[in-house]
Amino acid sequence: MPIVSGSLTLPGDKSISHRAALFSALRDDFSHFENFNFNRDCQATLNCLKNLGVESIRSDSRLTIKGRILSSWLNPSETLNAENSGTTARLLSGLLVHLPFKTTLAGDSSLSKRPMKRIIDPLQKMGAKIESTEGHLPLTFFPVEQIKGIEYELPVASAQVKSAVLLAGLFADGVTRVIENVPTRDHTERLLKLKVEYDQNGRKIISSSRENSIPDISMTIPGDFSSAAFFIAAALLLPDSELIIKNVSLNPTRTGFIDILEKMGVKLEVNITQNSPEPMGEVVVGYQPLQNITVPAEIIPNIIDEIPVLSILAAKAEGTFELRHAKELRFKESDRISAMVQNLRSVGVEITEYEDGFKIEGPQTIKGGKIKTFGDHRIAMSFAIANLCSEQGIEIDRPECVEVSFPQFWGLLKSVVKE
Ligand code: S3P
Repeated sequence: MPIVSGSLTLPGDKSISHRAALFSALRDDFSHFENFNFNRDCQATLNCLKNLGVESIRSDSRLTIKGRILSSWLNPSETLNAENSGTTARLLSGLLVHLPFKTTLAGDSSLSKRPMKRIIDPLQKMGAKIESTEGHLPLTFFPVEQIKGIEYELPVASAQVKSAVLLAGLFADGVTRVIENVPTRDHTERLLKLKVEYDQNGRKIISSSRENSIPDISMTIPGDFSSAAFFIAAALLLPDSELIIKNVSLNPTRTGFIDILEKMGVKLEVNITQNSPEPMGEVVVGYQPLQNITVPAEIIPNIIDEIPVLSILAAKAEGTFELRHAKELRFKESDRISAMVQNLRSVGVEITEYEDGFKIEGPQTIKGGKIKTFGDHRIAMSFAIANLCSEQGIEIDRPECVEVSFPQFWGLLKSVVKE
């Protein structure tokens, strides 16, 4: 079996990169970002902004955004294309509702199947005029007289929905309050320095209004923790492995994967080197035995992107792994519950499928075989890790689909794998 060893720094966090571009696009000034993630998803955000008159300049992994106030954004000459990126489509929608001309936002076939009603509903409550194709892309935004602030309790634990409403709130009449029952990633409120309160039931309330000025958020973007999760999993599964991952995001609303690993008996070294504007540091991890657990429901939004690779760890860990309350996985770049179940079975792992999760009895042998990514980057990368500890190897149908989040994945994996 191969081992993984060495030290890695990863391209910038995808969620933060999208927000860096979108938020600084609203400032009538230059903003600079080091370690920006120029993956396909974030390029889609930059292309949409370009069509709206916001220029960006790339130099290696450095991005400069020349923003302009929202009222001076230009009427795009073509349909805005979010490609495969849910974050682009949902966050940008919160701004398009304010433009004094009609805009249309489309995406690729995968994104066009994903639910948009979750943003259309609150934005319409604010007064937006949006036409959709039965709650899906393409969306057309029409100019309206007034967008007004609302109080909105999130019906789904989604940072994209939260951010769309708060962004619309920045330019609305009155105050917008978003109420969150289950915490989701907090990059939007953190970077925009929005007011955050907690009510007596412990629910988080985030407010935005015209009173908020858009801060200069120029920064070095921490490495993507969701990308780090694949390498952490490889180190845990392959005997004699040890990896150091440097300058990685350690935002607590993103590192639930570490909490789950600790519950599974894992010992990791986590050193925080920066707290603001976003927590960042290093993770040191080596091979060790894993004990399966039942995943607590409230942590699901915090580990949502790491669940595919967690299923690979569960197959190799001792005992019963059960994960429920994660129906949201069915609405990602693919139906991730179905994709994981079908592919794990294809490589010889027994798994029970539930409407909202799955159960695995470990440890099992990963025999190998062919898997289908369904064009989903996280399915491809999860099975690349499974491949390393499989008996006969795993053939991945569309390895290039990693480009939407992590084009450097195959190269970086090769650089740490030692046969
Ligand atoms: C994201 C939020 C999550 C996550 C996605 C990125 C974000 O989606 O799965 O990869 O940047 O806000 P939801 O908000 O739909 O849960």
